[in-house]
This record gives sequence, C-alpha cells and structure tokens, in this order.
Amino acid sequence: MPILENTKNAVNKLNNKQKAKLLYGNGEWETNPISGTTIGSVVMHDGPCGLRIPTKGGMPQPGSLVQDAEPSTCYPAPCLIACSWNVKAIERMASSYAYEARLQGTDVVLCPGINIKRNPLCGRNFEYFSEDPVLSGKLGAAYINGLQNGGVGATIKHFAVNNQEFCRNICSSEVDLRALNEIYLKGFEIAIKESDPWAVMCSYNPVNGIAASDNIYLTKTTLRERWGYDGVLMSDWGATYNVVSSHENGLDLQMPCSDNHSRRISRAVKKNRLSQQALDDSSLRVANMYFKTLSKPELLQFDCHEEARLMAEESIVLVKNDKLTKTGYKCALPLSSYKDACVIGALAKYPRYQGDGSSKVTVSPENLRSFVDVINEGKDSDQTVPYCQGYSYSFENDCEYFGISKKALLKHFNDDEKKAHEYVDQKFLNEAVNLASTHETIVVFLGIPPREESEGFDRSHMILSKQQLELFKSIASIKKSNPKKKIVTVISSGSPIELEFALISDAILRQYLPGESGAEALNNIILGNVNPSGKLAESWPLRGMDVPSYDSFGKYRHKAMYKESIFVGYRYYLSSGRDVLFPFGYGLSYTNFDYSDLQILTNEISNESEIIVSLCVKNTGKFDGSEIVQIYSSYIEDNKFASPENTVIRPLRELKAFHKVALKKGQKKRITLSIPASSLSFFDPVEDKYLLQSGKYSIQVASSCENVKLSQNIYVQSKDVVKPENVDSGYFTLSKSGLYIVPNKNFYDHLGDAKTDQQEPKKFTIHSTYNDISKTWIGSIIKGSITNSTFKNVKKGLLTESEAENYLKMVMNSPIIMVTAGGLKERLAYFIVHAANYRFFRGVLALIIGR
Ligand code: BGC
Repeated sequence: MPILENTKNAVNKLNNKQKAKLLYGNGEWETNPISGTTIGSVVMHDGPCGLRIPTKGGMPQPGSLVQDAEPSTCYPAPCLIACSWNVKAIERMASSYAYEARLQGTDVVLCPGINIKRNPLCGRNFEYFSEDPVLSGKLGAAYINGLQNGGVGATIKHFAVNNQEFCRNICSSEVDLRALNEIYLKGFEIAIKESDPWAVMCSYNPVNGIAASDNIYLTKTTLRERWGYDGVLMSDWGATYNVVSSHENGLDLQMPCSDNHSRRISRAVKKNRLSQQALDDSSLRVANMYFKTLSKPELLQFDCHEEARLMAEESIVLVKNDKLTKTGYKCALPLSSYKDACVIGALAKYPRYQGDGSSKVTVSPENLRSFVDVINEGKDSDQTVPYCQGYSYSFENDCEYFGISKKALLKHFNDDEKKAHEYVDQKFLNEAVNLASTHETIVVFLGIPPREESEGFDRSHMILSKQQLELFKSIASIKKSNPKKKIVTVISSGSPIELEFALISDAILRQYLPGESGAEALNNIILGNVNPSGKLAESWPLRGMDVPSYDSFGKYRHKAMYKESIFVGYRYYLSSGRDVLFPFGYGLSYTNFDYSDLQILTNEISNESEIIVSLCVKNTGKFDGSEIVQIYSSYIEDNKFASPENTVIRPLRELKAFHKVALKKGQKKRITLSIPASSLSFFDPVEDKYLLQSGKYSIQVASSCENVKLSQNIYVQSKDVVKPENVDSGYFTLSKSGLYIVPNKNFYDHLGDAKTDQQEPKKFTIHSTYNDISKTWIGSIIKGSITNSTFKNVKKGLLTESEAENYLKMVMNSPIIMVTAGGLKERLAYFIVHAANYRFFRGVLALIIGR
C-alpha cells in the first residue's frame, strides 16, 4: 500500500501527540480522527462470514461472546468456501460483501482469517480455510482482492501461529523455524504478496515465548523486511502487552482502546523509550489507511443472498456417491425428486449455518430457510416430505417437539441439561425408524450443535452425540435388512468428525456451515440442478488420535508444542502411510474427468525459473461440471546432482498450484499453470532462509492428494548450498503405527535457537485469564459474580444451561485486559491484576493514575 501524497502532507503537519493518537483505537470499532486536520477515522467491523456491526450501545448479550448485530448477509463460512478452490468465485463473493459493507459505511473489514488447521479440534477452524498454506494463501488473496477491488479494505488475521482457542492469549506456540516459515507463515506470505491487504492483525498468542504483537521476528524481520509489507499492523482486540514497546517492535495500531495513550506515547518518544522513527512510520501508515478510504471505485450492486447461494453451490463437497444395485454400482445422487423420500435429523429444520464468536452475523429471518422449508416450498400440506427430528438438538427445539415446558423437561433429568442431551429418547428413535422403514430414500442430517464449536474454546473430541450415533445405527440396520434403501447423509459442522460408521450411506454430502442460503444450495445439488464441484480443503482423519498433533494439542496452558513440525495434515498422513477417511483435495462430481497429455517445459530449471505445467482435462460423463486440478511436487532422493547424504526430509507430496476448470459434457480443455522453481525450496532454520535443493523432483497432476493422474520428473540445478545437518532430519519419526509422540526433550533439542520452553509466569499479568486468577480473592469474586449473573439469565429463561456454560468458558478463558473490549477502562484491568497479586496499594494507585 504505497503512502499517498495526501497522507504525507497531512502527517507532516502533526505534532507528536497528534501522531500518537493515530496509534490506538477510538473505542472498539474505529481509529482516532485528528481534530483540526484532514485526517478522519477509519471504521472497521468483523468478520469472515459477513458484516457484523454490533448494535449501538449494546453490551454483550447474555450467553454469547458477542452482542447483537445489525442484520446482514451470512455468507458460507470460510471452512466451506475453501472447498470451492475457486479463486474467481471467492473474489466475487467478497466483492458482494464489500458492496454491503460500503452501504453500511464500513471502511475496513476484519477478515479473512487464514490460520492453518493444525488440528480439527480448534474451535475456530470454521473461520479458516485449510491445513495447506498454498491453498490458504491463494484463497486468502482472492478474498482480499475481492474486498479491496470493491472498495473496502481487508485485514488478514491472525498473524501468526494461532491454531487453538484454548488459552489463546497466554499459550505460547512453540514451533521450529522450518515449520513456522513453511507452514504457518507461508499462507500469509502468499496472500500478502498477491493482494496487499490494508491491514494485518496480530494474534493473541506468544510465538516461541514472545507475544505476536511484540515479536520482532514476525513483525519486522518477516513482515516488513522479507515481505516488504507497508500496510497497517494492528493488534487483535486486547492483544497488546506493552503500549510503548509493541510500537517500537513494529505494531502500528492498538485495538480497541478506551483510554487516551497519546501523552504516554509522546512522552516515551521524548524519553527515548520509543524512537521518533517508529512513531512517524506508524502514524503515516494509519493515516494512509484513512486516505485510502477516500478514493473508492464505482459501487457495483449485488444480490448478496444470491451470491451466498452461488458460493455454497460452488463449495459443498460430495464425498460418497455409489449405490450398490443388482447391475453394479450406480450413483445414488442426484435424486429426481423427493417422492418416496423422508428427512430425518433436527439439523434439517434448525440449520447450523454459521459459527459463534466475533464472526457471528445476524441474519434477517426472511433470508434464512431450513432444508425442510426449502424442499416443501409451495407444496400442500399433504404433499410435504415427511420429517422427524431424530435427536435432541437444542433445548428450545426439544421443548417445542415434546410440547412441554423447559422446566418440565429439565425436571425429567434432575435439572441436568447435559444428561438431557445425552439421553436417547425412544420417542425420537421410534419415529425415525418408522419413517425410515416406510420410505425408499432417507436423507439424514448429522452434525455438531453450536454449543460444541465456537471461538473462545476448542472441541474436546471428534465424536457425534450418542443420540445421533444411536439414530444412525437404527437407520443403518434398516438398510442392512433392506439394501435397496438409499441413505443420503448430510454433515453440518465447521470441522471434521469421526464418521467411518456413516460409510454405509449411499451418498454423503459435506456442507460445513453453508451460510444463510445453504439449504437452497444443498437442495439444488441433491436434485442435480447443480453438479457438486467442491473438494475438501483439509484431510478428514478416521479418528482424533490419528491427527499428528493429537498428543500435544491443548495439553498445557502456557505452551503448545508443535512437535509434528512440518508434518501437518496430509503432509503427515501421506508420508507416514496412515489411512484417512477422506483425503485432502478429495471430492466427487456427477460426471467424470479424464486427464491426459502432461507437458512440462524442463529446460535448465534454476532458482529463478518458472516451471510451466500444461495438461488436458476432458469431461467424459453425462453432466456439465467442474474439476479441480491439483499440482503437487515431491523431492526425489536419488537425485542427479546432489550426493545421497544430502537428503533433507520432505513430505511425500506438497501442493504447489491448482485450478478449477468448468467443462461442458464431452468438452476437453488444455490448462497451463506456472510454478516458480523457488516454491520447491525448503526453509533452512540455521541459515534462516529458504534454500532450493538441486536434484530430481516429480511434478504430479492429481485429483486429490492421494490420486495422482499424471506425473513427470524434472531436474533442478540450484545455486544454493544445502547442508542437510541443518534441518535435523533425524528428529522425525514417521510411522504408520502409533501416534506422533516425541519426547519433550527431543522436541526442545530440535527447536534449537527457537527454544523457549515457556513456563507459567510467576505473577499474574493483564494477560492472565480469569481462570488463572480464579483462586485469588478478587478472581473468586469475579468468577462468582459472572457465574451468578449468567445463571440468573438461565433462570429467567434467557439462556439455556449449555449456552451459559459456553459463555462462562469463553469469559473465564479471556485475559484480564479484555475488560477494555467491553468498553471499560484499562485502569480497571490493572487494578484487578495488582489485587490478584495481593499488591493492594498498587491496585488502588492503578485505579487513580491508570497503571
Ligand atoms: C478476534 C478477532 C476479531 C476481534 C474483533 C477478537 O477476539 O480474535 O478475530 O476480529 O475480536 O471482534
């Protein structure tokens, strides 16, 4: 983002106090305007699923991490749109989002989030794209380009290595430099270089012991020096540790802010604790963001609900579609109609279309229809497709279903809501069995209820509720005795669940969280009005314990040990030969595609070369459709130039490029893709840079990471000198049997210079959580009062017990400084910290003087 002339002129006239004012927010959702100058404020709002403008004056609603918002379009969540692998479609959807944001006066939106899906349990995976950095980076760039071409600035987040919600503010992500660069930073690098977002948002977590907002390796070395980024670097909400040092270390804008820091900052410059250069640079960048908002392109109009539907149709993934008949396998989908079909499962009527937390959108009720509504539209009541709930989903629904009050239902379970949810009600089952026995096609909806998946906490397992498992078992046994029946299973969740049992289904559709028009999109796919073309943007493991970070995920409060290093997702499953339920890049269509005639220009490939890959794809089936062509590379050890001992351990296969191509039936197209030879490099932690190893590489054209269709070897002659001992190949123990368990000592030896071995701090800080201080006198008072007020809302019927539990989990996991995000003064946070450390005098002083 080049600095505009207007900006330079305006900032040149500011004194230090005025400049300092640009470095922190004006409350929650805007930057400070500078009175008496031409610099106004930049208005920003969340988030990745659609525009979220909190309702004015509202405090957080009981039971939710976030307060109510003004109605806007809820687009499919990033976990789903990533499955489109369609750069153009994402760009278009983001431009429609920009249109809506502009109508509402929002200048910058706080998205996309492109953190890597390290483990399916991360509560916020639904907001992210993929386990692969190339896919995340390219799709992130498309999202940003769409927004910014539409005249709204984008904020890429959360920079960096924020891959869990558990203790997200205090838990140091301990990761070796190779994985940090190749996996966790790569996507940001691609997106930033290909789209130049107006802002980058730091994450809450420390990385190798140092807060992301203070971490010079991230902020200065990587972002500014290596990538040449010149936009605004802002904090996540409440993620700044030290007002002055974070600015010295590269942070431009602290968000949110309910205090006046300009004296503190300008005094720090006077006393040489903050350089004039840092103040000048940061104020220039923030002011520049404001002047950018003044020159907007022409406003293009969109039907946002329609755009949300198109995006969902482009993304929903068909992962199984084979019905065994007398004459062999046939496709179970599409259905010609819902005649002889029934629908089972509460998620068909009470759709899960988005996740909870700062991404939560308020949808206009007229825009949200369930699958049951959509398929029965315009039908007389005697013609509607029979539906039954099948399992308990949420308390309200259950009460409605049983026609009893909530009090009566809870009484039945001795006021234990958890028990109520785990209870398998025979009435649900009987009804489902009746429907399933009397219908040819059974459309079953399974998935995760919202109470298990949200910002603020992680899931604890990948298993569906007992009720849903029992329901499916009953339906499956009906099918076993009558194999002619067709089961179509639809899965709603933001992240994978253990689902091997459901393979008995004839068809399985993965709709993730499909946004407000999701049911329309799903119906179009089931009926064949749209041919599915999504492919999974993440591996779908068989079991939670197969995930390489299983042993270390969410284990300690103060450190997350990234023991699996670069072996994340399919890089691990493929390299260790471990089976998965569905591989990365996998998805079916109602038609078939043939791959042929691979040509690669292989002449003298060196560091600066572009590798040009070209091939043909033909639609050989009966439907028009789209195929996602994936290009992977593998390094082959016995290379022509390097000696065998010069072996650097590499994943078996890594995604380098992809392209989605639309083909009419019978149509054939040639596709040409270009891969920079430098993208075959690995990151050498000792030299702290990428090195391209000479030797033989295989370039593979594939329809998923497991299904290579065409391949050819190439030879790279690099000028880089590789010392394999630098990359510690001996550390990796990749075996099919057993979990990915590495002793802590080996891990810390492997970390080398990146080592910190983060320990629990001895004293509480403003970044300690309310859980941390809950055993202190002040902590227990706070916990007691939050718990009481929350459960008062349960009694009043404003909240269900599980909503209350979620809310408490989120609040108690928040750092003390987060009081400022609720509009309270920072001095209150300091008072609480000092009081928790039993420093009463300092606490009172903090209340008076602010720290
Ligand atoms: C989230 C960010 C979000 C911000 C503002 C934070 O808690 O981590 O993703 O943009 O709040 O709502």
